[in-house]
Amino acid sequence: MKTYQDYYFKKAKKEKYPARSVYKLQEIDKKFRLFKKGQKVLDLGACPGSWSLWASQKVGEKGLVVAVDLNPLSIELPGWVQVFTCDATSPNEELQETLEKEGPFDLVISDMAPKTTGIKFADQARSYELALTALEVALNWLKKGGCFIVKIFAGPDVPEFLKETRKHFKSVKQVKPKSSRAESKEFFVVGLEKK
Ligand SMILES: C[S@@+](CC[C@H](N)C(=O)[O-])C[C@H]1O[C@@H](n2cnc3c(N)ncnc32)[C@H](O)[C@@H]1O
Repeated sequence: MKTYQDYYFKKAKKEKYPARSVYKLQEIDKKFRLFKKGQKVLDLGACPGSWSLWASQKVGEKGLVVAVDLNPLSIELPGWVQVFTCDATSPNEELQETLEKEGPFDLVISDMAPKTTGIKFADQARSYELALTALEVALNWLKKGGCFIVKIFAGPDVPEFLKETRKHFKSVKQVKPKSSRAESKEFFVVGLEKK
């Protein structure tokens, strides 16, 4: 049976993105118009590389994408994408040097997700921790007026996360893209214009 999700899977294959998650980012950008030519983007949880590839196309060769993941990215990316295989919660020396050299960034985007265990509260708690890490990175490396996109799983910690994010951004939105599985607990928090 042809399902809704098959549509995004096939679309990604046809358009040569390694994962259908690219359409979540596209939907968010369609709503808020965040990506522009020449920007510097920090992409956390970048493997297999759909977001980084699409971001690199949006910012163009005068821009920069710094991609970070625990796992190596599996695709070829243009020269203005720098890839770091390390933990975003504890940047290695190379990543730290690059952040210092290239920062501050226009956008910090995080699609980081924990390995799910099926234990709802454990998965949600880990997702919250990753989202907090992404927020911390964003606060360190985003320029004033810069924007932040972060994935988080719905759960009891979300109000606290939103409260914390609102302290640092002029406006904070919640988005559940159509391309995100309805049964998935994930959604995205978008921080507009860092104070
Ligand atoms: C849903 S995938 C990202 C998909 C990616 N945005 C794309 O479009 O190709 C989530 C990723 O988060 C990464 N991740 C989880 N915890 C991380 C951490 N502490 N540091 C860096 N990456 C992490 C995982 O390794 C995984 O590759």
